[in-house]
Amino acid sequence: MGNLKSLLEKRFSVRSYQAKKVEREKIEYILECARLSPSAVNYQPWVFIIAQSDEVKTKMQESYNREWFAGADCYIVACGNHDEGWKRSDGKDFTDIDVSIACTSICLAAEETGLGTCWVGNFDKTVLRRNLELPEYIEPIAVFPLGYPAGDLKIAEKKRKTPDNIVKWK
Ligand SMILES: Cc1cc2nc3c(=O)[nH]c(=O)nc-3n(C[C@H](O)[C@H](O)[C@H](O)COP(=O)(O)O)c2cc1C
Repeated sequence: MGNLKSLLEKRFSVRSYQAKKVEREKIEYILECARLSPSAVNYQPWVFIIAQSDEVKTKMQESYNREWFAGADCYIVACGNHDEGWKRSDGKDFTDIDVSIACTSICLAAEETGLGTCWVGNFDKTVLRRNLELPEYIEPIAVFPLGYPAGDLKIAEKKRKTPDNIVKWK
C-alpha cells in the first residue's frame, strides 16, 4: 500500500511547462492507461484526440485562451460518445462519468511519467467542437495540456477538506 497515495500526493495541476518535446511513447502510455479504465457495462464511450501539430494546437488555444495553456507541448482532448454511453433505466447517461474515470487515469499516468498536466474543463465548447470538427454526439469533456513541468515549480500545498468533513461512518 502507498504507491497510489504517494502519486496522488505528488500530483498537482501544472500550469507552466518547459519548451521540451513530449516523447510519443509517454503519450501512448498515458493513452493506454486511459484505455484500461473501467466504464459502465464496459461500454467505453470515449474518444481521445491528440493535438500535436502547430495548426491544431492553435485551434485548441482558441478554445481556452490562457498564456500557460499555450505553453504546452501537446493536448489530449477526452471526448464522450453519447451514442455509446450506458443509460440507466431512469435515463441517466453515464458517458461523463466513464470519461472522467479515464481522465483520472490520464492525470495519474502523466504524473507517473514525469509529465505535468492540468485538467481543463473551462474551455469554450462551441469553439472546440467547431475547430476539431466534432459531430453532435461527440462531446469534448476535458482537455489535458501535456508538457514537462517548468523547473522552478514546487509541489503545491494540497488544499483538501478534512476526513471529518467528507466521510460519514454509519
Ligand atoms: C473537472 C475539473 C475541471 C477543471 N477545470 C480547470 C480549468 O478549466 N482550468 C484550470 O486552470 N484548472 C482546472 N481544473 C484544475 C483544478 O482547479 C485543480 O485540480 C484543483 O484546484 C486542485 O488542485 P490540484 O490539481 O493542484 O491538486 C479542473 C479540475 C477538474 C477536476
